[in-house]
Amino acid sequence: MPAGRPYRRRGRPFLPAAPGDILPPAMLGPLLLQLSRSPLARRVVTDLGFARRAARRFVAGETLDEAVAAIRRLNASGFDATLDFLGENTLSEAEAAACAGEYVRLLDRIQAEKLRSHASVKLSQMGLDLGEEACLRNLKPVLERARAHGNFLRLDMESSAYTDRTLSVLARLRDGYEKVGPVLQAYLYRTAGDLERLLDRPVNIRLCKGAYREPPSAAYPRKRDVDRNYVRLAERLLRAAGEGKAYASLATHDARIVRWARLHVRRLKLDASRFEFQMLYGVRRDLQQELVRDGFRVRVYVSYGTHWYPYFMRRLAERPANVLFVLRHLVR
Ligand code: FDA
Repeated sequence: MPAGRPYRRRGRPFLPAAPGDILPPAMLGPLLLQLSRSPLARRVVTDLGFARRAARRFVAGETLDEAVAAIRRLNASGFDATLDFLGENTLSEAEAAACAGEYVRLLDRIQAEKLRSHASVKLSQMGLDLGEEACLRNLKPVLERARAHGNFLRLDMESSAYTDRTLSVLARLRDGYEKVGPVLQAYLYRTAGDLERLLDRPVNIRLCKGAYREPPSAAYPRKRDVDRNYVRLAERLLRAAGEGKAYASLATHDARIVRWARLHVRRLKLDASRFEFQMLYGVRRDLQQELVRDGFRVRVYVSYGTHWYPYFMRRLAERPANVLFVLRHLVR
């Protein structure tokens, strides 16, 4: 709903017609991203039962069992998955090592249950804030287990403060094991250069728009420019996929970009084994199903764990109308 539309009552006297009526979405998104970093807001929100219930739309559960059940259902419906144990910015070696232990367990479960899933991990969860060496130490058992199972490990990309360090860790990991791949964010000015550098050897890249609060010195402030850059980068990545230099993982729910990509891969006569679409659990299920129905490979990003707060807030920031959905849980 456009910002500024007058307040309308829909039989819910305390709810505005849309969050955009309290604050325009252009302001609400950055505010939610700022709150996603606030320890106080985290304490308040995670204690609210209705917020926890609302988060379940985007999070498969708090336990590995719940996540595995969700992946089984997704696999049965034709989707692949990537599994994420929620957590970021761990502050001690012990905490980071415990998270790494959970990744080893989840890789074993994927293998034991023959799930079509790989894993996605955030390096700040593996101790990147404690230094690159600490992070590599924690990642080692995870990578060894992925290698033992022949599974792929995705390194999620966090804010631009982590981009260089994430790409540096990736380079060191790939020297020992090829099935590790990065995420590139179309909102960053630097990404076209990063993409070219990564393409110097075969690589599986997830391309997304970017979900963090970034200064205009690092990222396109206008969504229109981010969308344009996404298409430019996707074009380059798909071309590289056609030349056998890359595997393209297009992570977006943007129906216009998905439509463009469908046409473009047909124009390129790109083999279906060279690319896939990726979407988040709980977001645009209609589009996910349509793609699978039409024969495309779709991988769903499935998150689980108790540290859902920052992940949940980023999902609200991406679509401020989701705040209305949270408020509905409060009214119920
Ligand atoms: P856009 O924001 O333009 O949304 C297009 C449409 O999609 C909206 O109009 C709406 O219909 C729907 N939509 C999008 N987000 C929604 C939401 N939260 N709730 C409901 N509907 C929504 N980012 C990052 O910085 N690092 C990373 O590692 C990753 N990893 C990642 C993996 C996967 C599989 C996906 C799909 C996304 C990420 N992201 C990410 C997040 C990404 O950067 C981006 O913030 C979101 O995907 C939203 O952008 P869209 O491309 O969907 O477009």
